[in-house]
Amino acid sequence: MENHVYEWLNLTLRWIHMIVGIAWIGASFYFNWLENRLDRLSERDPGIAGQLWAIHGGGFYHLRKFEVAPTALPEHLHWFKWEAYTTWLSGMALLVVVYYLNARAFVVDPAKAELGELAAVGIGLGAIALSWIVYDLACKSPLRHRPGLLGAAIFGFFTLLALALDLVFGSRAAYIHVGAAIGTVMVANVFFVIIPGQRELVDALSGRRDPDPEPGHNALLRSRHNNYLTLPVLFIMISSHFPSTYGHAHGWAILVALSAIGVAVRHYFNIRHLQPRAIWILPAAFVALAAVTWYTAPAAIERGTTLIVPDDDIAVILDDRCTSCHAAAPTQPGFASPPAGLSLEDMETVRANAERIYMSTIATNTMPLGNLTGMTETERAVLGMWLEREIEAAR
Ligand code: HEC
Repeated sequence: MENHVYEWLNLTLRWIHMIVGIAWIGASFYFNWLENRLDRLSERDPGIAGQLWAIHGGGFYHLRKFEVAPTALPEHLHWFKWEAYTTWLSGMALLVVVYYLNARAFVVDPAKAELGELAAVGIGLGAIALSWIVYDLACKSPLRHRPGLLGAAIFGFFTLLALALDLVFGSRAAYIHVGAAIGTVMVANVFFVIIPGQRELVDALSGRRDPDPEPGHNALLRSRHNNYLTLPVLFIMISSHFPSTYGHAHGWAILVALSAIGVAVRHYFNIRHLQPRAIWILPAAFVALAAVTWYTAPAAIERGTTLIVPDDDIAVILDDRCTSCHAAAPTQPGFASPPAGLSLEDMETVRANAERIYMSTIATNTMPLGNLTGMTETERAVLGMWLEREIEAAR
């Protein structure tokens, strides 16, 4: 019952996280697009910076951007902030339910560091807090006058974070923590800088004084960073479905490469209205993705070098090391149903999933999760030989 409730708590939080995340990032994409597409040239009223006509959902819309602000503030002004806050709150709750409540399985990897559960959670939350502190200090340092350099420094910091977390955590957890750290930076930007910047503008206008330009400049810088961070963070949100990324021997480097591709693609969409020729970035991004696909490919299986292993030996290994989780009724605490819908109790299912099992247990060491069941290297080698024959035979 308890496990069933956890599963549904996971489902509910994940659903909410997706909905509010889409609302946040969708609004942010929309305003970026709007900013780039405003018609700033045609006839317009004084005080108006640009306008845009659009048709959507069967209605015509006419949007106007003010150069500074309207002469009188409207009664209802929408702020776009709860989308960000609820994304963070649901994301942190999900981190607790999915990762921290079962930290031994989902966060710790004894092959990297024999961490206790509390130590693992402490390192995870510490890494997230540290990221905001370092990022915020960098944005307040003299680097803020050199936006390009600042951007590179931030990218460098997250690269180091990915590397450091990959040394101490299970690889899935390392990825998710980089994502949580980036997401936290983005939401903290909204909460501590962007919204206060807008509030200063509104207060100044209601008090009929000139707004202090500094908060506005800071808000713009942070908003730019958030814009570039969206694509990497979206990849990390779906990364746990792809063992060939986080499970790679240099999982952190794969994450850095994919993030660089995401940042480049975002950059193209930011500048395309000014530099249409920058479209070369898109094919270049696909070539880079193809290069990462090639780099992460599992080593080819050599024909004829494997021994014949009887099915019974494999059934014993799977029963010892996998079926506590991968069974119709798992006995592992915290599991209500077989993870990934994969029960490994009969050899037919095992055969049918040989490639997936090879990817997660032989080509990468992502299974057994956190090596909770203590699988030995010999068992891995034996399972590997059996799987190689099965995969060959199926071809
Ligand atoms: C402690 C629990 C646990 C144990 C033990 C375990 N797994 Fe898993 N397994 C998981 C979880 C959790 C997932 C991921 C489900 C998801 O996608 O979120 C998973 C996913 C998988 C997948 C699917 C990966 C993919 O996305 O294609 C395979 C294959 C797999 N496990 C094989 C194994 C094998 C083989 C063993 C034994 C050698 C094993 N697992 C032991 C928990 C476990």
